[in-house]
Amino acid sequence: MRTGDEANGLRRGGTIVVLTGAGISKESGIDTFRDADGLWSKVNVEDVATIERWHRDKKTVLDFSNERRAAFRSANIVPNAAHHALGRLQREWPGEVALVTQNIDLLHEAGGASRVMHMHGRGGLVRCMACGTVRESDADLFTHSRCADCGAIGELRPHIVWFGEMPLYMDEITAALERCDLFVSIGTSGTVYPAAGFIQIVRRRRPSARTIELNLEPSDGHSLFGETIYGPATEIVPAFVERLLSTAA
Ligand code: APR
Repeated sequence: MRTGDEANGLRRGGTIVVLTGAGISKESGIDTFRDADGLWSKVNVEDVATIERWHRDKKTVLDFSNERRAAFRSANIVPNAAHHALGRLQREWPGEVALVTQNIDLLHEAGGASRVMHMHGRGGLVRCMACGTVRESDADLFTHSRCADCGAIGELRPHIVWFGEMPLYMDEITAALERCDLFVSIGTSGTVYPAAGFIQIVRRRRPSARTIELNLEPSDGHSLFGETIYGPATEIVPAFVERLLSTAA
């Protein structure tokens, strides 16, 4: 753990890019994917979260997605101190804070973040594969669901990015990484690209930027970061944000 003056001395008004993963929502009651008790230890990702599977077996994929979306809506899934800390950072930092998440839950928004780039899509949205329309909807989706815009049957899917598909916001994210003064990775195992490669983009194209990993344990890419802080997100993220806001030069 390298905890030097990781947050001190960042120029006030500098650009910060924050990437979050499932670990930031774990203490809110949402399973991660690759921890011992993670989602992929219970279901096979190839069966429920790939575009190929949706074309072959829409019902299985839609049933899984309906179940997960319902779980997110349950009343006891609330933002935790880490989500609130990032909402505070976006409000109080006198510069740009680009918040990129791999998560499809809406806990960053519920924690006060106003601009969140959900690169793997997000709950609460459905997309028609026939006409491309994306609509707000929490309704369960079925193979007989009908698109309200074009009338197609069985073409509605959750607006989330499955394996084998291109993540969203990649141009904006890459531009932010190339101009950032600080890149912070929180709660991600660093195993899924392109998110796992963001640290490489910063090191190559913005070598002056500070890079910090905040996680429960070292991620696959931990050695690429200039600084690392380990512990539960609800402890280390609020403390990090407090230090950043109080010590910016
Ligand atoms: N606080 C901080 N970090 C935590 C906590 C916690 N309380 N609990 C777990 N973590 C860390 C784990 O140590 C792990 O490194 O969060 C990370 C979660 O890793 P993954 O389960 O792989 O989740 P993530 O990195 O977000 O996965 C990326 O993979 O399956 C796809 O689309 C899915 O967006 C997801 C992507």
